[in-house]
Parts: sequence; structure tokens; C-alpha cells
Amino acid sequence: MRRTARLAGALVTSVAIAATAAACGSGSSSSSTGTSSAGSDAKSPITLYNAQHEDLMAEMVGAFTKQTGIEVKVRNGSDLEMANQIVAEGENSPADVFVTENSPAMTLVDSKSGFAPIAAATLDQVPSRYRPSNNHWVGFAARATVLVYNTKQVSAAELPKSIMDLADPKWKGKVGYSPTGADFQAIVSAVVALKGEAEGKRWLDGLKANGVAFQGNGTVMKAVNDGQVPVGIIYHYYWYQDPAEAGDNSSNTKLHFFRNEDPGAFTSVSGAGVLASSKHAAQAQQLVEFLTGKEGQQVLSDSTALEYTVGSDVPANKALEPLDKLQAPVIDPSKLNSQTVITMMQDAGIL
Ligand SMILES: [Fe+2]
Repeated sequence: MRRTARLAGALVTSVAIAATAAACGSGSSSSSTGTSSAGSDAKSPITLYNAQHEDLMAEMVGAFTKQTGIEVKVRNGSDLEMANQIVAEGENSPADVFVTENSPAMTLVDSKSGFAPIAAATLDQVPSRYRPSNNHWVGFAARATVLVYNTKQVSAAELPKSIMDLADPKWKGKVGYSPTGADFQAIVSAVVALKGEAEGKRWLDGLKANGVAFQGNGTVMKAVNDGQVPVGIIYHYYWYQDPAEAGDNSSNTKLHFFRNEDPGAFTSVSGAGVLASSKHAAQAQQLVEFLTGKEGQQVLSDSTALEYTVGSDVPANKALEPLDKLQAPVIDPSKLNSQTVITMMQDAGIL
């Protein structure tokens, strides 16, 4: 009975999410590491539902397979799309491990009792602020909220002290953002967690009045660079990745870090969890241990993803503003709720 009720709820949710799910340019696709699946059960292949960046996970999973010999089949999608798929598949899900860009999708699966407990040795690799208080999954990367601004249009002195200030009428028509993405929705969830629903609603109403919506953080950054809007809300790595490519989409811009535990200094946790329904629990636990361990974190640090490492004391890529200088607010990731946020954004007319 409970399963039926869960499924019905999940399907309704997935319909609502389908129109809004927009990851970082990734459609659904699949691939696998390793060349054969022969061998004992300890070497049998496992399936990863991946909502993180495909290139990054291909590197991390490739290193895991090289070290352990365990083949990993990867299915790619976006955060809430895959979370809803796992919930809908229930006990029959082929997924052994789920990784996301942001934590609300982890919380959705967790709310349906979808995760097995994470091994203690794995939890020990990650500081408590980068995992939920219930330890049902663990963080393996982090991304920082930033305000990208056009240096020809805004001086540093004119920048807002808080992300909440962007709801002020003086920013009318000046704020770029990407409301359909899981990234922005995670930022809204942090605003709501820190400021409450009433203030969150006022902020969303202000953004609706002031904001210019774009599809994707990269498009927001480009619009700021081109002078379409003077400022934009994005995650840090879009800006740091751009010079490594052509640099054409960021050369007129700088990043503003809100710091001071502002909601705008929110660092979003990318989660990894072992599914309760996994038929290969030991290997699945091994993968999560690897992702948060020294080798996995070093792959992340060395990669062009330019997301923050969070585990095993592996320093983040040197190009980045140090994580410990961001003065991010401490938020229990398990308190970030996607459904509340999506409803609030729909009520505000943003979604
Ligand atoms: Fe992204």
C-alpha cells in the first residue's frame, strides 16, 4: 500500500518536474567503463544514475574502474528527473548508486527511504557540513553561488551586500538568472532554509519583477558579458571554466562573492548515495567510498570541472577562490526541499 501511494506521488511529481528539469546541457544518455563484465560477483558491474556533469563523472568513474576492476554502467540525466525515476522504479530500479549536482534531488529520494546507510569509513572522509545530518548519503563535491557582473556597467561599490537585495526595485531589469535549472532551484532552497518561506516569497516576487530569465547558467554569464544584463546569479565554475575554453563569454566580467554567511554565499553539495534496492551493495559502497576518498577527490581537483573538493582533505583546484574564504552559511543539506521550492517558484510565476 505504501509503495502504491509513493508511486502515485512520484509520478505526479515527475510530471511537474519534467517541464522544469534542465541540467547543464546533458540529455539522457548512457555509457560504461571497463571492457568486460566477466568474473565473480565482487567484480560484477554496477549501475550509476548520474545527474552530475558527464565529463567529470566519466573521469572519476574511469579511475574507480581502473583501481578496482569494477565496471560501471552510467545513465545520465538531470537531478530531479533521475530522482523521480529512482522513486518510480522503486525496488526494481537498476540503479546501485545515485550522484547529483545538488542536494534537493538526494533529499527527494531519501524522503522515500531510497538510500541504504553509508559506510562509516566513507562518512569519515567528508566533513559533517557536506553531508546531511541523517548520514543517508554523502557529499562529494560542492559548487558556490556567485554574482557575475559586467565591470563596464557596474562598479564594485555598487554591488549588493546580500543576494536578498536583488529584490530591490533598483535592480529592475538588471538581474539575469536561470530559473528552470536545478542549480538555481537549490539556491532558492537555501534562501528559504535561511530566511523562511515568507521572506523567500518576497525575494522570489522581487526577482520576478527584476529578473531576466535565461536557459542555463552559461547563457546567463554570456548575457552579462554581452551587456544584456549587468549582473547574473550563477555557480562559480561557469566563470572559471570559460577562460580555459575561449574566454569569450567572461572577459568583460568579474565575480562577486557575497560571503558573510549570506544566502548568496550558499555552497551547494553534490551528493552520492547507495540505493536501498541495490543488488550490489558492497561494490556500490566501494564507489561512494572512492568518490569521497583521496584518489577520487584528486581526480575532481585535477579535472576541468572546477568544482570544489570536499573530502579526504584534498585541496580544490588552485585556480578557485578558496572554499574556506567563501564564508558560506552552514545549512543541513537534508533540509533543502525541492517540492516546496518548485511550488513557491510556480506561485511567483517564475516557473
Ligand atoms: Fe552545472
